[in-house]
Amino acid sequence: MSKEPIRSIKGTQDILPDQSSRWQTLESTIRNTMHTYDYFEIRTPAFENTSLFLHSVGEESDIVSKEMYTWIDQGGENLTLKPELTAPVTRAFIQNNLGGLNPINKLYYIDSLFRRERPQKGRYRQFHQFGVEVFGSEFPEIDVEVISLAMSIFNTLELEGLTLELNSIGSEDCRNNFRTAIKEYLKPNFDKLSETSQKRFKRNPLRILDTKSLEEKTLLKDGPQISDYWTSDDKDHFNEVCELLDKINIKFELSPNLVRGLDYYTRTTFEVTSNLLGAQNAICGGGRYDGLVEQLGGKPTPGIGFAAGMERLLLVNQKSDETIKSQIYVIGLGDSARSLIINIALELRQNNIRTSFDLLRRSIKSQMRDANKLGAKYVIIIGEEELTKNIATIKNLSNGDQEQIPLDSILSHIKSLPLK
Ligand code: HAM
Repeated sequence: MSKEPIRSIKGTQDILPDQSSRWQTLESTIRNTMHTYDYFEIRTPAFENTSLFLHSVGEESDIVSKEMYTWIDQGGENLTLKPELTAPVTRAFIQNNLGGLNPINKLYYIDSLFRRERPQKGRYRQFHQFGVEVFGSEFPEIDVEVISLAMSIFNTLELEGLTLELNSIGSEDCRNNFRTAIKEYLKPNFDKLSETSQKRFKRNPLRILDTKSLEEKTLLKDGPQISDYWTSDDKDHFNEVCELLDKINIKFELSPNLVRGLDYYTRTTFEVTSNLLGAQNAICGGGRYDGLVEQLGGKPTPGIGFAAGMERLLLVNQKSDETIKSQIYVIGLGDSARSLIINIALELRQNNIRTSFDLLRRSIKSQMRDANKLGAKYVIIIGEEELTKNIATIKNLSNGDQEQIPLDSILSHIKSLPLK
């Protein structure tokens, strides 16, 4: 009886060789831009103590309350596969005293994350994000740098149909006053609120602004607005962010209800959405988290960052990528040529020339077919005749031209050819 093959977990994806070059191009675009902005890469472990996410993302957030992969390990520790990176990077920042080494730390990451969400287009249980976290500056210049860095990557990728939404959810005082006001305003209508909003009313009223219900949105329109509760510092900060964005020609829309679903945010929040995606249209989200370092046991340090979903970027990026092609294919005929072609291939590869040869001992016709399939520019042929004369035949596959050269000058000859 044949066995059922084991399949991958729902919501996870294999990135197969015909897709991986798109990922590599995306990753190198990200790295190049990060480096021109002088950001340095940070890599953190795949799992953390569960308490890290409870104390940062927040127990009432969807991520913590519904979506984490959490387990007790054999030693009794409560662990979680990272569902986001702001908390782990902040933990690493504190633990390694990065703030003591530099007054400002500009960090970036490209990583895999895990959330047990309902899979659909653009929403997976294991997915990838790139993002930045900057620690040390409370000033609007850094808000603008972080936003412009994200937009610059999206521009380089030539993404179209994007909207940058911007808001400020103010400092702690502002949010406390706003919470009281919104509860007061919604109290008479409590019974009409959806179950989710009723829960949020009790535990995290700010998130009621996230509602998808049209009725609730209409109700909220006439209610208190966060901006009415900004302190004068909050207002100045946000105005300066907007002015600086205008000055560098970054277009944005004000989005007064953009509170984001994670608890650590303060002041500036932003999201970039795409009109090419369906329900899961956010390609990037971020904001300030000026209280997070202190909340996790570090010295009070302002912070700001964003993360962008890489699967979603690739869904939006319709540009086709050139597949990577082989440069040289070495064809050997007969037993005596075999060790020679291994040596030739080795020498070419040591000189950074992409080289293949046949590993299935096929006929010359099949080897030629293989060379064409791999997109090789030239083939080097070593048959009986070549061996006795100590020469190799070099064939240009694009125009069929052929020439014979001494065996010991293969490398220098190949190097003189246009291989790109
Ligand atoms: P987030 O909004 O939860 O923020 O995620 C950021 C982006 O990750 C989303 O806009 C989306 O593109 C992508 N994403 C989220 N969940 C999934 C999923 N299940 N499948 C595919 N893509 C997904 C954060 O994670 C914050 N840590 C961002 C941040 C950094 N804020 C400050 N610094």
